[in-house]
This record gives sequence, C-alpha cells and structure tokens, in this order.
Amino acid sequence: MKKIIVLLFIFFPGFVLASGEGVKLEHVQVDAKDLESLKRGADLFYKYCSGCHSTKYVRYERIATDLNLAEAYVKENYMFNSDNIGEVALSSMPADLSKKWFGTTPPDMSLEARLRGNDWVYSYLIGFYEDESRPFGYNNHVFKDVGMPNVLAGLKQELGEEKFKAAATDITNYMAYMADPVKVERESLGIKVIIFLLVLLIPSYLLKKEYWKDIH
Ligand code: HEC
Repeated sequence: MKKIIVLLFIFFPGFVLASGEGVKLEHVQVDAKDLESLKRGADLFYKYCSGCHSTKYVRYERIATDLNLAEAYVKENYMFNSDNIGEVALSSMPADLSKKWFGTTPPDMSLEARLRGNDWVYSYLIGFYEDESRPFGYNNHVFKDVGMPNVLAGLKQELGEEKFKAAATDITNYMAYMADPVKVERESLGIKVIIFLLVLLIPSYLLKKEYWKDIH
C-alpha cells in the first residue's frame, strides 16, 4: 500500500505537467510544391529570423535550386555573412551576447519543423501576446515565458491579422521544407517506383502463365 502511495506521488505531478502541455495548436496547411509560398517564406525567414537563428544544415545553393531562384537573388537577399553560394547559413549572433540578451542562445532552425511539428511552429509564430511582466513585453501561447522577442510585431501591424497569418504560413512552409528538403523528390520517386512495379506486373504475369501452362 505504501508503495502505491509513493508511486502515485511520483507519477501524479508528471500527469498534471503532461496535461498542462496540451495547449491547443492551430492547424497549418503546408505545401512543399508551392514554390511561390516557399519563396515568400524564405524571404521572410532571411529577413526576420536568420540574424539570430542559423540554418546550418541547408546550403544556399540548394535553396536556389529547389526554390528555382537565381543565385544572384539568393546572394543579395539571403546571404549576409558569406559570399559563397555553397555555404550554409550561420547566424551572426555571438553566443555570449545572445545569452546575455535573451537568457539563451537561439537554436538552429534547420530541423525545427520536424522537431516540434508544423502546427506547433505556426502556432508559435502567431502565438505572441502582450505581457508587461516579460522583459520584452510579450509572452507566447505555446511557449510560456519564451526568451525570443516578438520580432514579427511590426509585420503583423503592417499586414493586419489575416495577411499576417498567411505570412506565418509561408514561413512555416519554408521551415517544413528546410527540415525535409527531399520530400517532393521522394514522393515523386515513390510514384515512379509504383508505376514501374505495376508495369512489371504484366510481363511477370504472362511469364508465369507461360511457365505453368504445361504443368496443369
Ligand atoms: C532577436 C533574436 C531572434 C530573432 C530575430 C528570432 N528569434 Fe526565434 N528565438 C530566439 C531565442 C533567443 C529563442 C530561444 C527562446 C527560449 O528558449 O526561451 C528563440 C526560439 C525560437 C523558436 C523555438 C525554439 C524551440 O525551443 O523549439 C522558434 C520556432 C523560433 N525561435 C523561430 C523564429 C522565427 C521563425 C523567426 C523569424 C520570424 C525568429 N525565431 C526570429 C531569438 C530570435
């Protein structure tokens, strides 16, 4: 009996905490084939986010190819601390300074969408709300007491609620693409493989008939 009570004490707070995590997430529809959306997302990402967040698993060259962008465009708009299109995007924020300013270093964003999920990322981006008790005057619905300032506050004001949500969708789309850049390739390859197998089925069937015809 004692053991059971002890176990309850150990696990109960865990259950409570776990259920407290259940913040309702907004659903987002991403589309890795929508190149226009990916480009808008990349534009916003390198303008508003890459100063603090690195994307160290994504090469600029790859972005140019996948998003069908001219190298010159990528160099001009996405590359702020490198001239080499074969480079990955590192942030220019020194780790010690960001620790001092935000209490933590901004994590790399290459795989973030896979880590947290697209809905989470989207809900986070649209989830900032005013909170005077916080150092930068904002808190976040899905990330309580977050260290990141509300960097899109100006954009939201400029665009209005609906267009801002569309912009957040584009950023999420771009982050989902970064986290899984071969998704489109893999899916189209998958379809080709299935077609190939279906086509192969015909001669296989005929061959089988040919082999077995004298045996019955
Ligand atoms: C001024 C610096 C700064 C800018 C600009 C910035 N962030 Fe952040 N971001 C941070 C910091 C610092 C954290 C860590 C917060 C924490 O752990 O409390 C963070 C955390 C995050 C997280 C959550 C990471 C996790 O723990 O899973 C996401 C997602 C994110 N940022 C996305 C973005 C996006 C998208 C942009 C551009 C629209 C952006 N950030 C711009 C500083 C920044």
